[in-house]
Amino acid sequence: MLIEIGDIAATSLITLYCHALESLSDKPILFDPKSVEITTELDKTLSLSDHALARILVSGTLDKRLVVHIALRAKKYDDYARDFLQRFPDGVIVNIGCGFDPRFLRIDNGRMVFYDLDLLEIIAIKTVFFKETERYHLIASSVLDFDWMAPVLEHKGPFLFMAEGVFMYLEGKDVQSLVLKIQEKFHGSELVCEVVNSIWLRPPLKKILDYKLQRQTHMGKDAMFRSGIRDSREMEQWHIGIQFLDEWSYFDSDEEKLGSLKLLKHIKLIRKTQWTVHYLLN
Ligand SMILES: C[S@@+](CC[C@H](N)C(=O)[O-])C[C@H]1O[C@@H](n2cnc3c(N)ncnc32)[C@H](O)[C@@H]1O
Repeated sequence: MLIEIGDIAATSLITLYCHALESLSDKPILFDPKSVEITTELDKTLSLSDHALARILVSGTLDKRLVVHIALRAKKYDDYARDFLQRFPDGVIVNIGCGFDPRFLRIDNGRMVFYDLDLLEIIAIKTVFFKETERYHLIASSVLDFDWMAPVLEHKGPFLFMAEGVFMYLEGKDVQSLVLKIQEKFHGSELVCEVVNSIWLRPPLKKILDYKLQRQTHMGKDAMFRSGIRDSREMEQWHIGIQFLDEWSYFDSDEEKLGSLKLLKHIKLIRKTQWTVHYLLN
């Protein structure tokens, strides 16, 4: 479809354009000039497409609430990464399902090692905009093909794994095997990942969620959410040593741009539709 990538990979175009739009807005939540540079270049190809999403991206008419949410999320994940680097300045960060996000440029402390991992179709485009160095690496692989772990294991760590807007597109059993494999191979690492409330993945709420996603993103069926957890502590049951540290929801932010949406934080089912969880994998 769009620039020859599948529905799930194309979700990274949405987050990229959200970062760029927010960067160009008044009092940006996220300042990300590299995303603006990439979208300016991609516009040339996307403007030739008659796909509904391509038209929305190029015309800068993405849903404003989505832009705010995605920018808040990226900023929060930057904060998680910076906090990790404060504690471990020579640490190693793996950005699972990185999409086009230039997080490395936003948070680089001059010492850490950073891996961007995504499907081949994304990394093939990303290499046009990013050059690998001794401290910045691109891995073209499904996160479910565990061979990607080999080069990362050559470092002594400590390790932080981030999965921003990724796990919900995978099957639940695959997310579980991945987390357990990371725990086994990278003992003592940290994981920050976004999860969806599994209550929203069953009828009748699933229909509402699918409709909302479809309306906001105009994506195909493949880009629908497949897995989630019921609460932040659920992953602790997967294996001894998985320890829940903290959680974050968009609605916890006091960002002005959230407007009246902030009121929804008092409704637990809404505050915990899609949120972020931080674990220690001991
Ligand atoms: C919604 S985008 C999020 C991109 C980025 N994390 C961000 O927040 O801007 C989801 C990303 O997950 C990637 N993804 C989905 N399944 C994957 C898999 N099995 N292995 C690696 N990446 C995957 C997609 O290609 C896409 O880039």
